[in-house]
Amino acid sequence: MDEKQAKIRIEKLINEINRHNHLYYVLNKPAIDDYAFDQMLEELITLEKQFPQYADSLSPTQRVGGAVTKKFNSVKHLTKMLSLDNTYNADELKAFHNRVVKALGTEPEYVCELKIDGVAISIHYENGKLTQAVTRGDGVQGDDVTANVKTIRSIPLVLQGDNHPNKLEVRGEIYMPVKIFEKLNRQLREELSEKGLNEDEMGELLFKNPRNSAAGTLKLQSSKEVSKRKLDAYLYALLCNPTPADTHYENLQMAHQWGFRINEHAKVCKNINEVLDFIAYWENKRHALDYDTDGVVIKVNHYSQQKQLGETSKSPRWAIAFKYKPAQVSTLLVDIVCQVGRTGAITPVAHLKPVILAGTTVKRASLHNAGFIEEMDLRIGDTVWVEKGGDIIPKITGIVWPKRDLFSKPFEFIRNCPECNTPLVQREDEANHYCPNESGCKPQILGKMIHFISRKAMNIESLGEKTIEQLYQNGKVYSYADFYDLTYEDIVQLEGFKEKSTQNVLTGIAESQNVPFHRVLYALGIRYVGETVARKLANHFKNIHSLKNATFESLCEVEEIGEKIAESIVRFFSDEHHCTLIERLEKAGVQMELDEEENKKHSNKLEGKTFVISGVFDQFSRDELKELIQKNGGKNTGSISKKTDYLLAGNNAGPEKLKKAEDLSIPLLNESAFLRMIE
Ligand code: IVH
Repeated sequence: MDEKQAKIRIEKLINEINRHNHLYYVLNKPAIDDYAFDQMLEELITLEKQFPQYADSLSPTQRVGGAVTKKFNSVKHLTKMLSLDNTYNADELKAFHNRVVKALGTEPEYVCELKIDGVAISIHYENGKLTQAVTRGDGVQGDDVTANVKTIRSIPLVLQGDNHPNKLEVRGEIYMPVKIFEKLNRQLREELSEKGLNEDEMGELLFKNPRNSAAGTLKLQSSKEVSKRKLDAYLYALLCNPTPADTHYENLQMAHQWGFRINEHAKVCKNINEVLDFIAYWENKRHALDYDTDGVVIKVNHYSQQKQLGETSKSPRWAIAFKYKPAQVSTLLVDIVCQVGRTGAITPVAHLKPVILAGTTVKRASLHNAGFIEEMDLRIGDTVWVEKGGDIIPKITGIVWPKRDLFSKPFEFIRNCPECNTPLVQREDEANHYCPNESGCKPQILGKMIHFISRKAMNIESLGEKTIEQLYQNGKVYSYADFYDLTYEDIVQLEGFKEKSTQNVLTGIAESQNVPFHRVLYALGIRYVGETVARKLANHFKNIHSLKNATFESLCEVEEIGEKIAESIVRFFSDEHHCTLIERLEKAGVQMELDEEENKKHSNKLEGKTFVISGVFDQFSRDELKELIQKNGGKNTGSISKKTDYLLAGNNAGPEKLKKAEDLSIPLLNESAFLRMIE
């Protein structure tokens, strides 16, 4: 294909892909299957690589992200981004209506819209092309999040049709669909639990609700990561001069024609009673939607009337928000049951009489720890208030006091482990109780073994949770070191096992001897030692013996190892039982030192490529990265020039380097993208 043909083909592909993106993400009416779509995208990616002179920052290939924003520039809004006054009941809403009628001298038409619980955004278009996206900030100025917003498929990069104004600003709400939020938190929970964090510690790090999660995502430095998170958006306001129509509702329809996603439930209401009906209708129905809503926004429809009403310094007089009360119900607290986790942490859980709350049946609520129960004076048999205030896990927010049984007794927190009866301990700086019987308490034993075989640890997939449980019941395994003593007979007699499946398990165990040291370290299940920390420790201490002998102080000196992790490592190795397990693993042939040879291994994957490194990285130090570049045939230089192929940019990369890379169109790589290159 010559240059001219390529240009034509690229333009055609961009148009087609944009059209299908719009059909899929905005209109919800896909016209082709995913495969055909991906094929077009692949072709475009290839052509843009081949003919970089036609690569465009607004090409649909840019939706997958790539740009890294180190610092979000502050941008002043052309028109202040106001907020809305809130009302909480029909009387307050009628008072608003009366004020409007009095000022206008007539009853206006309203538009009711669902109030989406996300992050407000202002997006600018010039000549139909997206130029800038800015968060609300304090209303006067916000942050430039253009690179991240461009990854949101339902926000057009280029407007449809040709009747749009040359200069246009749209405002709307970016949100995270509830399903995506739940999935993200599930993954995060898995990662945190693999590090051995307990429920309370995880609670602090997990996203509280979809709004929080959308806000956090929009401020991520890596747009690639944002792209993966699948944010979505609804537009609810149009700023241009002149406006295409005289009413808000018609303008929304116009914006829809230009390619924007507009909430389909927006409704014109002829009078205040219709507004009240809309509010009543959505009070419960809203819970079935795939996005969080916390109320209804009521807007005067005609622009001329909006203008007449004007605005205060904070909010318009022509609009108001009606906020729903957080969904709340009362139900019986049937029992408080304490669960034991892999780390021995005890989590009390409330068992409730099942009740429907915000569209889902609630049977359980987390009670965090003994202190929480004591402070609330929660008692079994109480009727309690359960609330779902945007958070996914329902909370007990109070006791229905008149229903308290006068003869009930305060809840006595358990003193012994519910699984193994060992007296519980409480460490000075932690709210949770712990069962210290690490090597004799069933959920702790099983939890540790399950962690050991997991994919990112020893990856013994042929040994599943159920098999481990059976082996434990049969008295064959009590710790992960026991896996290496298993015989053919031990396994073949298990339910569902035959010759081949037995052999698979044995092969899986044998092959785990090749798992590199850093993953073995992770597999040991030392509290707070996740994958990244394990890699750092392996690189620094080289083998298990120097790690075992490391003092608290020397551990703290290692990059990214704080006091909490250091203390946990020291505590782990001061336990004789752990040392015996490690000795047994070592004897069984498990890797207990860094394979320098493996580490030195050369490849030519980066041959001919020149890298500049800037910033701080998560998994490797800069020196380690330099070494990796060299080992794989690449070259590392200090400053950016035309000859540079990639800027490997970590956190706080130098702004000058970033700018120069942008000027010279040198692609940025983050750490994980780089690692994928040499994988
Ligand atoms: S109109 C001047 N419409 O609610 C009025 N806001 O304080 C501008 N919101 O942060 C807002 N859904 O981001 C409007 N359909 C909707 C909305 C909406 C959610 C957010 C908005 C703002 C907050 C109101």
